[in-house]
Amino acid sequence: MLEKSTVKSTNIYKIYDRNSPNSFLPLLCRNLTYRAEKRNLIDDLNLSIDSPGVTVVLGFNGAGKSLLLRLLHGLIEPTAGSVLWAGKPLNNKIRHRQAMVFQKPVLLRRSVIENINFALATRGIRNRDRCELVLEQAGLSAIANRPARLLSGGEQQRLALARALAVEPEVLFLDEPSANLDPSSVNAIENNVLEASRKGTKVIFVTHELSQAQRLADNIVFLHRGKATEHGEADRFFSNPASKEAMAYLEGRLFV
Ligand SMILES: Nc1ncnc2c1ncn2[C@@H]1O[C@H](COP(=O)(O)OP(=O)(O)O)[C@@H](O)[C@H]1O
Ligand SMILES: [Mg+2]
Repeated sequence: MLEKSTVKSTNIYKIYDRNSPNSFLPLLCRNLTYRAEKRNLIDDLNLSIDSPGVTVVLGFNGAGKSLLLRLLHGLIEPTAGSVLWAGKPLNNKIRHRQAMVFQKPVLLRRSVIENINFALATRGIRNRDRCELVLEQAGLSAIANRPARLLSGGEQQRLALARALAVEPEVLFLDEPSANLDPSSVNAIENNVLEASRKGTKVIFVTHELSQAQRLADNIVFLHRGKATEHGEADRFFSNPASKEAMAYLEGRLFV
């Protein structure tokens, strides 16, 4: 059943209701396929993500994790099948209630604070307090006026996450956001993601790092060669994986 939003203008359907955790309306992938160079890189994938918290998409390099995230967020079009949010195909209104952080931060050639303000402006939000809060959470307040392109890799990625969180997305996609960062930035990013999840943002986090998945995940989607070979509670997945490829992954073995 679709529920009209009470917060925003009419004709928008809730993806996630912050006030009642059980009313998460599922994200459905139906026979989702992405084909390139004569290969199904995402291969007839059926998936229903219907619980709040952090869903980690885990898998070997090349499994199709980044492609899946791009399909879910509508950055690329499926060759076949569909993505449905709360029963509706993805549209711009739904996309505006989501945010994404890429492995390599994509920042404006402006100051730190202008990057945040620009993101707020695109959503029609004017809120200085929120800007200051996300900068503080990211540990960037002291360098708010510095050009974003002069920041270190860790600072840039913390800014990319702060900018995503500033718009208070209902769904936050992250594609290996802390790859190659030092432990303090990894920690800051993970803490901010968990905090957003506790406040009600649905998090879909792609990583190939087992320890990170163990720290963050409520649920795991294990992706292998474009198929979701497992989807379930994180504890169960780590203690008792069902598929051969997930077992190999957890044991640090190549799967051939
Ligand atoms: N546009 C494309 N055309 C052809 N092959 C692609 C394209 N995008 C990704 N691939 C291939 O699809 C597979 C999955 O890619 P990707 O989703 O980036 O994997 P990962 O799980 O490491 O994020 C890889 O083998 C990659 O080389
Ligand atoms: Mg990737």
